[in-house]
Amino acid sequence: MSLASRSDAEIIRISTAGSVDDGKSTLLGRLLVDTDSIYEDHYEALKRTSDYRGESDINLALLADGLKAEREQGITIDVAYRYFSTAKKRFIVADTPGHTQYTRNMITGASTADASMILIDARHGMTEQSKRHAFITSLLRVPQVVVVINKMDLVDYSEAVYEEIEARFREYSQKLALSNISFIPVSALLGENVVTRSSVIDWYKGQCVLEKLEDLTPEGRRTPPDLRLPIQYAVRPDQDFRGYMGRIESGAVRSGEDLLILPSGQTVTVKQLFDLDQEVQEAGTGSNVLVTFDREVDVTRGDMLVRPRNVPSVTQSLEAVACWMSEEPSVTGKRYLLRHTTREVTATLEEVVYRFDVETLHRQQVHFLQMNDIGRLALSTGKPVFVDTYEHNRSLGGFLLVDPVSNNVVAAGMITRSQGSDSLVRAEKVGRVVWLTGLSGAGKSTIADALVERLKREGLMAARLDGDDLRTGLNGDLGFSDVDRSENLRRAAHVAKLFSGLGHITICSFISPLNSDRQKIREIIGERYMEVYVRTSLAECERRDPKGLYKRARAGEIRQFTGITSTFEEPDRPDLVLDTEGLSIDHVVQQLADAIRQHVE
Ligand code: ADX
Repeated sequence: MSLASRSDAEIIRISTAGSVDDGKSTLLGRLLVDTDSIYEDHYEALKRTSDYRGESDINLALLADGLKAEREQGITIDVAYRYFSTAKKRFIVADTPGHTQYTRNMITGASTADASMILIDARHGMTEQSKRHAFITSLLRVPQVVVVINKMDLVDYSEAVYEEIEARFREYSQKLALSNISFIPVSALLGENVVTRSSVIDWYKGQCVLEKLEDLTPEGRRTPPDLRLPIQYAVRPDQDFRGYMGRIESGAVRSGEDLLILPSGQTVTVKQLFDLDQEVQEAGTGSNVLVTFDREVDVTRGDMLVRPRNVPSVTQSLEAVACWMSEEPSVTGKRYLLRHTTREVTATLEEVVYRFDVETLHRQQVHFLQMNDIGRLALSTGKPVFVDTYEHNRSLGGFLLVDPVSNNVVAAGMITRSQGSDSLVRAEKVGRVVWLTGLSGAGKSTIADALVERLKREGLMAARLDGDDLRTGLNGDLGFSDVDRSENLRRAAHVAKLFSGLGHITICSFISPLNSDRQKIREIIGERYMEVYVRTSLAECERRDPKGLYKRARAGEIRQFTGITSTFEEPDRPDLVLDTEGLSIDHVVQQLADAIRQHVE
């Protein structure tokens, strides 16, 4: 039966971890040979190599090692995937030299493992390296663990040795989030307890490795139902056709449904949906799809399609647990590249929060991470990324850090926390009119500018509408009498309403001095309206006097000047009051951003 004709449920993905010389390749080789998973000619070739090396038996490690370079040099150099099958299951084993490749592949979702097979050399017992493997397996939340205690023949098949290792492993794993751990005493070289149960290790009554593997379930690919479709390419074969390709990391897409594009916040309707080359009505997790939309939009690689009411965190600030994989230690303040799904952005390492002591799992204060260290990092990115925590969604929670000069992967990370707009982005829900009212010079425009910047950085659509701007054009025919102000505000409210309907968070700064006018604005805009009183005292405004208008008003040069010769009524029902005196602009904007988030939610 071919691989393609079997259902996905029967395929089990296994990651292997072991140290140099612990017999991992031999074990895999044995599984491959004894399940008839290699071709005759390949076997013959191996036999020749073994003969040539003067080895009496065929060297099974050669089979699993696979690569020509390895055979010549006797070292394993890269990750490789091995495939073998039994009547019950099909297996894909990621065979990696150490935990570096293993972690890297698993974190990026290249192989979301259902199980991890950890090899321990019976002679050496639970080494620091074994602990590291267990720890990483736990961090990666691999749901099933098979601990293979190998080379039992070299410890006289001692039950005591086996029990000691099992006890040590269990003791260590108590501090971890490991589940479903099983232990098997094995001699991979002699085939004891690999494919058939050993008669030599008679004190062990459990399953052999292959039986255990056959009992594993495809647990690891469980993803949440949230649609996450990162775009890989825009496909444009001719003028009339424009489609977008990507792999559905989680959730499903249906033809005809509305989707939200990140980061632009545009909404589109799916017109056609293709799974490989077939048009379909629906496609699920893991499918490679091509979608077309009802209208022309700007979408590029690294953008993401999601449901409008179920968006990931759009953020520029992340916390992650990461494994450092480079010879070069981490440098705080340095700019790296962050690869997350199909998106690549610059990322500054802000802080190494702590490092784990792999032996004790205690947290240590350090300033950098070195090769093989596991620790918690804080990163800020140059552009927003769209993330879920690794705990919630393994596909969206992993990333790689790359050195921008050498292009080498320096770390693999799992997102534990992101600071961002979380649920702010639901475009059709998010459109808001944030109406800043207050005296001239109160700080409305300054706050509006900073807020627009901030929202844009979070990947939101934000726009500014300002009294001074509007009055030079659209409302150029209006002055400052009560009637004119009222008309000025009526027009502004309608413009703002249009913007918000398109999904923009529209920040309006108008003095809007009267409660009666503010009431009308509220009625025009409806529930998207949010009234913010920028409360700065007249004395302070006059002291600031950014445009010199107060001075001129006092001198009688400007008539009907608000606060001096024209009334300003304090708002009677503001949604938020912002005091600006003595506070930093960042602080004020933060307060406002929080209030907007609450309003949206
Ligand atoms: S509103 O009262 O109709 O809401 P709006 O916010 O559009 O006023 O315009 C206020 C801006 O116009 C002020 O920031 C100031 O720069 C300028 N301005 C000119 N004359 C006056 C005036 N008499 N009263 C208030 N602001 C004035």
